Amino acid sequence: MVPIGVTCVVGTMLVVGWGAQPQRFVRGYAPAQPIPFSHKVHAGANRIPCEYCHTNPERSRDASVPAVQTCMNCHRAITMADSNYIKQNVIARLASDTALAWKRIYDLPDHVYFDHRAHVNVGLQCQVCHGEVQTMDVVSRVMNTRMGECLICHRDPRPYLPAGSAVTQGPTECTACHR
Ligand code: HEC
Ligand code: HEC
Ligand code: HEC
Ligand code: HEC
Ligand code: HEC
Repeated sequence: MVPIGVTCVVGTMLVVGWGAQPQRFVRGYAPAQPIPFSHKVHAGANRIPCEYCHTNPERSRDASVPAVQTCMNCHRAITMADSNYIKQNVIARLASDTALAWKRIYDLPDHVYFDHRAHVNVGLQCQVCHGEVQTMDVVSRVMNTRMGECLICHRDPRPYLPAGSAVTQGPTECTACHR
């Protein structure tokens, strides 16, 4: 038996959490970014690998969003029709050394533990959780990061894993994700 007090507290958190519907749960959430950065142009048309900008999701907990320096690896040399745009928005920001304040789209609260490594290393594609990012001019939220979404996959990840994977489950005990 779970003590009634715990049931009430957990129940209230669930009800309040659901009622408030924070933005992180809303599919299609796509906040205006400081620069209209296009994944379709970069990861799609120009086939730049996700890992070029989101460094080492297979080796670190965060996939991370690139620093302006990463953009400048290419944009110091790449001049294009609307190079003024790049100049004004990217180079000027780099010169004044202000980091671009990209708005987060996926952002779990502190009480949830997530690590990209465990997921990427078993062969889950970025697209399973984030959708077909390489076709998006503007990234919008695809995965709803409620607990139930994590658990649907953890109970049976096989449809999302590469054929022949030995992994048949993700952890479902509370302390795996709430530590
Ligand atoms: C690996 C090389 C590379 C990196 C890194 C890179 N870009 Fe680009 N970028 C390109 C190429 C190639 C194009 C397309 C140029 C063309 O079509 O003439 C482009 C186009 C653009 C454009 C204009 C085209 C459009 O329709 O959006 C913007 C703005 C831009 N990049 C911003 C950025 C920003 C911001 C970053 C860093 C987050 C970045 N780029 C990182 C290669 C790169
Ligand atoms: C040239 C650099 C570059 C490449 C290549 C790139 N991204 Fe990104 N990505 C960014 C930047 C900059 C942002 C932040 C601005 C935005 O949301 O558009 C971002 C944001 C994201 C976000 C949202 C992060 C958040 O705020 O929660 C996801 C998810 C993402 N990228 C996935 C991918 C995937 C998957 C690929 C490969 C198919 C990819 N990216 C390739 C630069 C890149
Ligand atoms: C199993 C689902 C899953 C897979 C697979 C996955 N992600 Fe994520 N991603 C998430 C979740 C959940 C978050 C929010 C993490 C947080 O807030 O701590 C996130 C956050 C991000 C962010 C925002 C910055 C950060 O690190 O928190 C970027 C960028 C990103 N993912 C890119 C990628 C790329 C690129 C890949 C493939 C190499 C990938 N993701 C694979 C679920 C996934
Ligand atoms: C598409 C399937 C999928 C989704 C969605 C998913 N996971 Fe996982 N997760 C897995 C698999 C498979 C494993 C087991 C990996 C292994 O056995 O090496 C795992 C392992 C984990 C682990 C244990 C490894 C570690 O880093 O400690 C944690 C924690 C975790 N997931 C958290 C989450 C959270 C939080 C979410 C939701 C925001 C989530 N996962 C969504 C498939 C998924
Ligand atoms: C696979 C990962 C995972 C496991 C296992 C898991 N949780 Fe969660 N839990 C989450 C995520 C993700 C959220 C949603 C966080 C958010 O965005 O508010 C969450 C939220 C919660 C919340 C707060 C509800 C709210 O609205 O914010 C409670 C309470 C909670 N979990 C309890 C538990 C208990 C009890 C267990 C064990 C029976 C458990 N969790 C197992 C991932 C997990």
